[in-house]
Amino acid sequence: MSASNQSIHGMWSSQMVFVLAATGSAVGLGNIWRFPYMVGEYGGGLFVLIYLGCIALIGVPVMMAEVMLGRMGRHSPITSIRIIAERNGLSRHWHLLGWMGVVAGLLILSFYSVIAGWSMAYIFRSGAGVFDGITAEGVSAIFSDLVSEPEKLLAWHTLFMIMTYVVVSKGVVRGLEVAVKILMPMLFILLLVLLAYSMNTGYFNDGIQFMFFPETSRIADIKGLSFVILAALGQAFFTLSLGAGAIMAYGAYLPRSTSIFRVTMMVVIMDTLVAIVAGMIIFPIVFANNLDTVVFANGLDARYGPGLVFQTLPLAFGHMPWGDFFAALFFLLLVIAAWTSSISLLEPAVAYLVERWSLARDRAAMLMSVIVWILGLGTIFSFNIWSDVRPLESFEIFADKTVYHLLDFLASNILLPLGGVLIAVFVGWRLNWKTTEDELAMGKEYCSYAVWRISIRYIAPVLLIIVFIYSLLKVIGQLSSAP
Ligand code: PHE
Repeated sequence: MSASNQSIHGMWSSQMVFVLAATGSAVGLGNIWRFPYMVGEYGGGLFVLIYLGCIALIGVPVMMAEVMLGRMGRHSPITSIRIIAERNGLSRHWHLLGWMGVVAGLLILSFYSVIAGWSMAYIFRSGAGVFDGITAEGVSAIFSDLVSEPEKLLAWHTLFMIMTYVVVSKGVVRGLEVAVKILMPMLFILLLVLLAYSMNTGYFNDGIQFMFFPETSRIADIKGLSFVILAALGQAFFTLSLGAGAIMAYGAYLPRSTSIFRVTMMVVIMDTLVAIVAGMIIFPIVFANNLDTVVFANGLDARYGPGLVFQTLPLAFGHMPWGDFFAALFFLLLVIAAWTSSISLLEPAVAYLVERWSLARDRAAMLMSVIVWILGLGTIFSFNIWSDVRPLESFEIFADKTVYHLLDFLASNILLPLGGVLIAVFVGWRLNWKTTEDELAMGKEYCSYAVWRISIRYIAPVLLIIVFIYSLLKVIGQLSSAP
């Protein structure tokens, strides 16, 4: 079979559009909501250091592999891997790898959309001035009010899924490309405006200090180094959109003449910068209001945990000049970032339906959006009517985890890294030197092909497997000690 140079779904009109789209996928709730609170939860600078290591040693080679697979196959991840396996005389079963990514993507989208929904609700709350001069009890009450009512969450989740559907249903060129060309510049402008605001708090250095200098005193109370490493690895995969088919799907629309190494580096650098800038926006604002020691009524710690952006930050903004306005901008930023990611979570499954069942794109997009919408109910109920449901109670480490937590854990900490291992094995061990060298065509320009080959064959899979087995043993250990 000749390697086709076009995808039936359309092609990005330039390499820059791919970079925008893939950066849009990578930059999302993971950078602005999840990264800062994980930095807080897992010990500041230490976590950041390990995270950067994971990005460089594992994230870069695996992202290059994903873009490459997409561009070789020119189809959805499932079909692409099947085609590549056939072409290279490998087992058809490898296409299950594509399935795993697509399923992980849909599971992630199901809770992603709910949290993006909170952010939308918060644009309006900030804009209406409800946080003006608010107390800690006040912000907790507003957050609890929102999440305790399934109807409210459902309305926002529905709206966000419609927004995602609208873009994906219009296709690669008229939908995804148009969306990222409009939304990404807005996102960068908002980031810069908020960064300038945060620099004016007078606590900028404290924020930097917290993010970049390991607080040794805290290493003891974070659950152990292995947890920090697993969390950093999960976050690295999540933030780079790896293992979920998203980058592979986008790679399928990438023009052949592009250097995969170069575009990957651009995406990785932008994503990492945005995460760090998000931390530099959030922590100084928190410190300026002495909120790093506040514990909210519902048990959420200001600096540590998912409440950071939805409670601590509004509380801080509520006591600052022009706080309402900048809070609204902040949540707008969050929604835009989430939107350009959610489209990449839906695209792989939609592309597959179009290929496999010859469905019209808008039908396929509708069908998948409805499925994800239904899955999202699990997350919605986790915050209210199912807030006491603990499906894996008998495992100590999962004893306090709701359906939402488990979905997040399964997708981000298990499926994504596992997808990473399988991609590394497929590309590094099953595809031969010549095949991948031709596609990457790295020449001698930057780092050479051999460095990538060594990373994808040895460094990435070995590190991933070690971290993985370690966490598995922990779970098994917990199981046998359970009553
Ligand atoms: N990278 C996105 C974020 O950081 C989330 C995502 C994960 C998107 C996997 C696509 C695939 O928010």
